[in-house]
Amino acid sequence: MQQPAHGGNLAWAAALAGCPRDAILDFSASISPLGPPDSAIAAIKSQISSLRHYPEPEYSELRLALSHFHQLPPEWILPGNGSAELLTLVGRELAALAATILITPAFGDYYRTLAADNAKVLEFPIDLSHLLINNDRSLSEDKLPLELRGQSNNDKGLLLNNPHNPTGKLFSRQEILPLLEEFALVVVDEAFMDFLPPEEEQSLISVVQEYENLVVLRSLTKFYSLPGLRLGYAIAHPDCLLRWQSWRDPWPVNNLAAAAAIAVISDRNFQQQTWQWLPPTRNQLFQGLATIPGLQPHTSAANFLLVESQQSSSQLQQQLLQHHQILIRDCLSFKELGDRFFRVAVRSVSDNQRLLTALRALL
Ligand SMILES: Cc1ncc(COP(=O)(O)O)c(C=O)c1O
Repeated sequence: MQQPAHGGNLAWAAALAGCPRDAILDFSASISPLGPPDSAIAAIKSQISSLRHYPEPEYSELRLALSHFHQLPPEWILPGNGSAELLTLVGRELAALAATILITPAFGDYYRTLAADNAKVLEFPIDLSHLLINNDRSLSEDKLPLELRGQSNNDKGLLLNNPHNPTGKLFSRQEILPLLEEFALVVVDEAFMDFLPPEEEQSLISVVQEYENLVVLRSLTKFYSLPGLRLGYAIAHPDCLLRWQSWRDPWPVNNLAAAAAIAVISDRNFQQQTWQWLPPTRNQLFQGLATIPGLQPHTSAANFLLVESQQSSSQLQQQLLQHHQILIRDCLSFKELGDRFFRVAVRSVSDNQRLLTALRALL
């Protein structure tokens, strides 16, 4: 079986570990351990009879719910089959420009979507040297690559991820705003932004109506632990979203996913619970990793940690699978990181403890 290019490939991991898929403790996919919320399951159950009908192609009810959630008119929001589907549409849009700038290391799917439409890609590496000895984010402000500014960018697109996967860096809204004046199109993938509580998030959704060249992508699969259901949405100028609708099939979001989405975005309890769980649990995992010889975690605003390792991370991955049935995400598919980095999701305190114990035993 091929080495997976994404996290969460349990079939591959189970084959290597020699155990059933269910026995694998998966740190490789950055999915919340708290979900799916009961509200999602209840909504799915209540909509089983709707399987007999095609979805309504405008997704009016879902768009209305999202429009209340984000305080935006419904025509500025387009639901999709995961943000991955919307990335495919973004790729086609970006390919029409002279080039697209990626901040690297970049999520592998960006290369897939840009290559599909023969887009020209220019890469700008992020500063990875910036390490802190504790996870106190107030001590640091993550910076975009300096060279991004001051180029002639008005014929180019920028595809940016905030918070950034796989580093967990968070760029401030203030830092991104000037780029909207420079680039022909700016796409901000905010797949992990919902993990930040409202008072800390740096989303660009609040300014989307001021910039025709801004697209924000959101995912509901990570925060609500619904990657198998597939659900995301784009927020952008209605003309752009109408164009995308004309490019894709009429029913990309199924009825059960639409019902679950409406339920979870108004599930304040689940949202509060997640915002209370993440910072202390991530900090505990960070501290635990930092005390293991040869490992150096990077501070992160998201629900995962990038860890620098003196030992080969693919070897470590293999040993963790074979001896402990634990799956971590090696970073071989991120060419700038290679074999000296791995990424782990923040899971429950007891799961995190199991990972730390296994790593201590191996290192
Ligand atoms: C940065 C980033 N964007 C988008 C996605 C796609 O998420 P989904 O299609 O499940 O919404 C992922 C999935 O791992 C991701 O890491």
